[in-house]
Amino acid sequence: MILSIESSCDDSAIAITEIATKKLIFHRKISQDAEHSVYGGVVPELASRLHALALPKLLESVSEYLPHVKAVAVTNEPGLVVSLVEGVSMAKSVAIALNVPLIPVNHLVGHIYSLFIEKETQIPLDVLLVSGGHTQYMRVSDMQNVELIAKTMDDSFGESFDKAAKMLGLGYPGGPLIEEWASRGDENAYELPVALQDNRLAFSYSGLKNAFRLKIEEEGELDEAKKANFAASFQKVAIEHLIFKIKQIVRDRPPTLLGVVGGAAANKRLRSELNVLSEKYRFELLFPKMEFCSDNAAMIGRVGVEAYEKKLFKNYTNFDVASRANF
Ligand code: KG4
Ligand code: ZN
Repeated sequence: MILSIESSCDDSAIAITEIATKKLIFHRKISQDAEHSVYGGVVPELASRLHALALPKLLESVSEYLPHVKAVAVTNEPGLVVSLVEGVSMAKSVAIALNVPLIPVNHLVGHIYSLFIEKETQIPLDVLLVSGGHTQYMRVSDMQNVELIAKTMDDSFGESFDKAAKMLGLGYPGGPLIEEWASRGDENAYELPVALQDNRLAFSYSGLKNAFRLKIEEEGELDEAKKANFAASFQKVAIEHLIFKIKQIVRDRPPTLLGVVGGAAANKRLRSELNVLSEKYRFELLFPKMEFCSDNAAMIGRVGVEAYEKKLFKNYTNFDVASRANF
């Protein structure tokens, strides 16, 4: 079995995956949403301290499997460094205690493999990652060959929903809240700009964020109806920009398969717009199970199984954490 640990942002998670069958034997996550919601975003020191409290509890809950563990897989990049070190330190200690190899896992590769939990891989494929930390379009030929086609120049898609929700005083995380409020609003109530209407293969959300702030300030006091209209108008334009850019990418080189991963892959409006695009450009769409869209350790374990078979181990002394991705 593979023991996997994830702590790259504000979720502490652990999983046990059977190597031969890829079966997910156990997975559990302790989220910090409630603690960070007071601040409208993730507070790094608080995240780190909460991981230090949660990770040993999670480890305790898998104690019966520890004698069967053949390797420990852990997220070591990219992410919040003070969060990553908590998971990596625990992983190193457990691996030393059990005398098993360690597998460092790139969080983004983890999200890609959330598509293949308890399944065989379907590679090559293109992957759109939309989360709180990332917005990127990747071409994946294997787990060590990920070509970045487009990424955000500033804020990420999920982050922009978090910031918009904060401006409207809706809470955190903003994605599901904006989506819910949007369902009661008029998406044409406020006109907001769609970014980068040129040929650049990149995403950008800071312009929309600023325009949104100005519109809110212009409006003054907000009642429930206005908040719903703001949420709907924001969601419409945020998705329109994403779809506009993806269209530019797939128009020239349509994939046969596009996987859509990350916390924001749960957005229903985004899913339906991607469906329209997939019919037009004739490609298949693949989504992870809803519970594996957001950060989890099952996806890290699935990478762990693949890496174990390829013997991609690293000595505990020669890998560190990193805030940026090194593919
Ligand atoms: O993948 P994830 O759990 O964590 C990161 O690695 O960032 O993604 C969380 C992000 C948050 O920014 C959250 O607001 C966003 O995904 N999100 C959504 C939705 N559900 C979560 N954004 C838009 N629509 C949603 N339904
Ligand atoms: Zn993530």
